[in-house]
Amino acid sequence: MPLALERVSYSYTSYDVNAPAVRDVSLALEDGEFLGIIGHTGSGKSTLLQLMCGLLLPTSGRVLIDGEDLSQNGTRKKVHTKVGMAFQYPEYQLFAPSVVEDIAFGPRNAGMPAAEIDQRVQEAMAALGLDYDRYAWKSPFELSGGEMRRVALAGVLASNPKILILDEPTAGLDPAGRNRLMQTIKEINTAGKTIIMVSHSMEDIANHATQVLVLNQGGVFSHGTPEQVFAQPIALRAINLGVPQTTAFASDLNERGFDLPLNLYSIDALADAIALQLESGLTGGDSHAV
Ligand SMILES: Nc1ncnc2c1ncn2[C@@H]1O[C@H](COP(=O)(O)OP(=O)(O)O)[C@@H](O)[C@H]1O
Ligand SMILES: [Mg+2]
Repeated sequence: MPLALERVSYSYTSYDVNAPAVRDVSLALEDGEFLGIIGHTGSGKSTLLQLMCGLLLPTSGRVLIDGEDLSQNGTRKKVHTKVGMAFQYPEYQLFAPSVVEDIAFGPRNAGMPAAEIDQRVQEAMAALGLDYDRYAWKSPFELSGGEMRRVALAGVLASNPKILILDEPTAGLDPAGRNRLMQTIKEINTAGKTIIMVSHSMEDIANHATQVLVLNQGGVFSHGTPEQVFAQPIALRAINLGVPQTTAFASDLNERGFDLPLNLYSIDALADAIALQLESGLTGGDSHAV
């Protein structure tokens, strides 16, 4: 198992042990999976991500990467080659005077030869749609929010980890930027990387995740496939979370007599299903008219 959490809990301080930031979370991921994590602010998402990459060690329970316990001596050092994390605020992650130097930091730190570093940087920039001539020597701090996120993600990708952890990667981007970045993340996933992503976009989670974890007050509120998790719109609403807009729309129409599946996450697919039911409805109506 590439990544497994066994009853993981975490308290930031000794006096919040009764209300830990993360409480009793268990899950297992296969290579190439896409885990989507949702939950309102303060539900423990960022804390959980830091436990998964070894930045924090569990107060109780175990985090296993390729079967090795991160709390065991020596394991935590090795984890950097396997797990890469892009933080919630990329401006805190970027630090070098130029884009290339920032992206090269990981491979350089790993002691790679210069030629290989260059190649890794160029490949990572290409994967993130960052034109080399245009961006290489710019300061990361002169970039737009979307560009900064791409550079931060390229920096993670350059170390070639097999698991990428992304904390709200599309937050604050305009719709076009968001779609482009989600497309890129999907491509990285399709190329074989395991993705763990926190997002407030139920659409992005529904369209891409193989597993969805819903956190509430540090604990697991719900965990399953997108179909399983988003089939409970009322329960999710009770903790101030929504469902994909297509699910909400289908559910509204069902209250008015339609019989639509709730797991159609693209507008095209939902439109087709509606058209089909209208057609069969019209056929019924015609026979009445005759
Ligand atoms: N460095 C910290 N020290 C103490 N408490 C923290 C720290 N970071 C987060 N917390 C607390 O842990 C809980 C979970 O926070 P966080 O994991 O950031 O949630 P989310 O990412 O879902 O918004 C919150 O109650 C938050 O106040
Ligand atoms: Mg957070």
